[in-house]
Amino acid sequence: MARLLVVYYSLSGNTERIAKRIAEKYDAERVVKIETATPYTGSYNDIVDQGQREVESGFQPEIRFVDAASGKEVNLILDDFDIIAIGTPTWWYTYAPAVSTFLQMFDWNGRTVVPFQTHGGWKGHVMADFKKACGGTALRNKFDIQFDSTGGNTQITSQIDVDVWIKSLNNI
Ligand SMILES: Cc1cc2nc3c(=O)[nH]c(=O)nc-3n(C[C@H](O)[C@H](O)[C@H](O)COP(=O)(O)O)c2cc1C
Repeated sequence: MARLLVVYYSLSGNTERIAKRIAEKYDAERVVKIETATPYTGSYNDIVDQGQREVESGFQPEIRFVDAASGKEVNLILDDFDIIAIGTPTWWYTYAPAVSTFLQMFDWNGRTVVPFQTHGGWKGHVMADFKKACGGTALRNKFDIQFDSTGGNTQITSQIDVDVWIKSLNNI
């Protein structure tokens, strides 16, 4: 079986839920969470506003990688994996600033990347932005998972559809 790495950023848990489901169903080799060095604070609306400013200015926050199983900070070596699934919430129609930092840290040429996004109904141009950021890499089996439109944790996309997508990763 191909060695799969799941890397994700998640502010309120939706993207994390999908990342963990991949790990459970696919038996991912490793799940790594992206954390911002400076946590987001304030109300949801404060963060939505801050996110808008960050996306519009192209801000790339300092990040660290945390192994989801051990909770320990890790160095990420992409060469150890055959498939890299990258999960992000949608922030102002693109990927979250923390994922922007992550994408510009590595050379994606020749890698197999599976991008997935969670969102509240406005998917934006996340996948086109992944394509730009990943340069010469073909994106495989991209997928989006809709949650409720108020920033909550109710999943709208059916779990069956999510699991069918995860199963499809075996055919890459
Ligand atoms: C700063 C910010 C911007 C957002 N922008 C969008 C958007 O453009 N389109 C959309 O459908 N949802 C948007 N949302 C909602 C999130 O994408 C959605 O709730 C997502 O599932 C959250 O994932 P998480 O729980 O992993 O953080 C935004 C949320 C935040 C905090």
